[in-house]
Amino acid sequence: MNRRHIGTVHSAKTYFRGPINGTRTTMGLHEEIAKRRTFAIISHPDAGKTTLTEKFLLYGGAIQTAGAVKSNKIRRGATSDFMEIERQRGISVSTSVMTFEYGGKLINLLDTPGHRDFAEDTYRTLTAVDSVVLVIDCVKGVEAQTERLMEVCRMRSTPVIVFINKLDLEGRDAFDLLDELEEKLSIKVRPMSWPIGIGATFQGVYDLYSKGLRLFDPGKTKVEQSSIQIDSIQDPQLDTQIGEDAAAQLREDIDLIEGVYDPLNIADYQAGRIAPVFFGSAFNNFGVKEVLDAFTGIAPPPGPRPTDQGEVAPDDTKFSGFVFKIHANLDPNHRDRIAFLRVCSGRFQRNTYYHHVRLEKQLRFATPTNFLAAAKTIVDEAWPGDVIGLFDTGNFKIGDTLTEGAKFQFRGIPAFSPEMFRELVNMDPMKTKQLDKGIRQLTDEGVAQLFTQQPGNKKIVGCVGELQFEVIAYRLEHEYGAKCAFQAIPAHKACWMTSTDQAQLDQFIRMKAQQIVQDKDGNAVFMAPSAYMLDLEKRNNPAITFHTTSEFKTAVAEA
Ligand code: G4P
Repeated sequence: MNRRHIGTVHSAKTYFRGPINGTRTTMGLHEEIAKRRTFAIISHPDAGKTTLTEKFLLYGGAIQTAGAVKSNKIRRGATSDFMEIERQRGISVSTSVMTFEYGGKLINLLDTPGHRDFAEDTYRTLTAVDSVVLVIDCVKGVEAQTERLMEVCRMRSTPVIVFINKLDLEGRDAFDLLDELEEKLSIKVRPMSWPIGIGATFQGVYDLYSKGLRLFDPGKTKVEQSSIQIDSIQDPQLDTQIGEDAAAQLREDIDLIEGVYDPLNIADYQAGRIAPVFFGSAFNNFGVKEVLDAFTGIAPPPGPRPTDQGEVAPDDTKFSGFVFKIHANLDPNHRDRIAFLRVCSGRFQRNTYYHHVRLEKQLRFATPTNFLAAAKTIVDEAWPGDVIGLFDTGNFKIGDTLTEGAKFQFRGIPAFSPEMFRELVNMDPMKTKQLDKGIRQLTDEGVAQLFTQQPGNKKIVGCVGELQFEVIAYRLEHEYGAKCAFQAIPAHKACWMTSTDQAQLDQFIRMKAQQIVQDKDGNAVFMAPSAYMLDLEKRNNPAITFHTTSEFKTAVAEA
């Protein structure tokens, strides 16, 4: 393994909130913060996330050949795919981190699983980023998964840049797509580039800000793109380059855009109120550089993070961070786990004791790693915005906080109500211990949620999709030697509860004992058997609020 030191830095930015953790510190920390951009690319499966990731990595020099990321996905078993089960199914179950430099910034790109059954993994990853790039397929428009992902972004006011992909295909009208984005994703949009034709007639894009014309050259996947600068949209060069009809149409479109859409206000973008929109074709490497340039120009550096005791600013001198992902068995020969920790403040140092707040325990890490997918590198230090992998022997749960001694917990890592519930049935009574340990560890990793019901210690597993149950059964058998089956139970949603009237809540919990389960933290959860019953209980118990996310004390989606 190589050692990696994060290199020198660029402009600084300061925050003026009072520290709850340490004191303000040296320029070094400010500069490291200002240099970093931590983000994720999100999309409905097949919109082009992997292809765009690959192109970003090419620009960042992190991979050398087009097709590297893609072919790994097809061959299975390289870069971001760790688990054998992924290899078999060809679905990216895991989240990995890709670090590269571009435009003077150090960029941490957090990969997210594409399959909807692992959506919760993606939701959690979104808690560790400072912004996202959302990829939309121009043929399909806004799809179901996109809406859900954006809901999570809205909960945290995450800044979004939109890339409308596959312009080489016969897609939908660009204005219709923008309307759909605004309507379905509840966010204002601002086109930054504009397509000239679409599908067979696609000629390129007009850059609304630099007033440049980028002409489409299908099949050209080189990093460089040809660009023609024009003086204004009235420039006669436009007619020569793209033809009179297309030029007339473009002038008409641009007129309409300037009249209808507000100019991009960067503060509004950074507050998650407006999303700049780019058009292009990731596969053809067209319009990708514009997105990356805009991203490095306007995406926010690591900012303050909410904790149960107020915000922690990234330039607090004392280190703090939280675990948003746990991954087991990176190497199938070893029973190891890697906890992915997002650094939120201060400087993390190798071989230094840190405080595990939940366990009230001091832990030291000899081999913290940084990732370019499977290529692990030991890091000596890490800064706010960085994601490091900590070797774990079972100390971590999703959401755990590490500090230099302060006793606060980061907030904003919610568990959402699963959508499918099954009772876990032990198929081999000789392996009860292994099954218990396995399901506890897998659910600590966040593979699924575990609820228990008394009396009888019945275990109920909640997932987002069918495939997760298969993954759990497979992993319990192959990693823990325990055989299980899943039995359907009548449950529609898991609802955490709060009430202004504790007596009414206690009575409800007593009356509904058959539908009350405990989550892993011991909170009482109501398993609503159907949407109808949930509505009925809400009407009958006006003093109780039913929440479909466990993070009910802060931003919540009400049931
Ligand atoms: P995902 O990670 O969001 O699931 O999408 P991914 O990048 O894997 O892309 C899904 C499919 O869309 C791939 O085709 C990919 O080549 C194609 N694609 C991505 N960008 C563009 C584009 O700009 N134009 C066109 N026409 N297609 C694009 P596939 O057939 O599923 O895979 P492959 O055989 O190409 O590897």
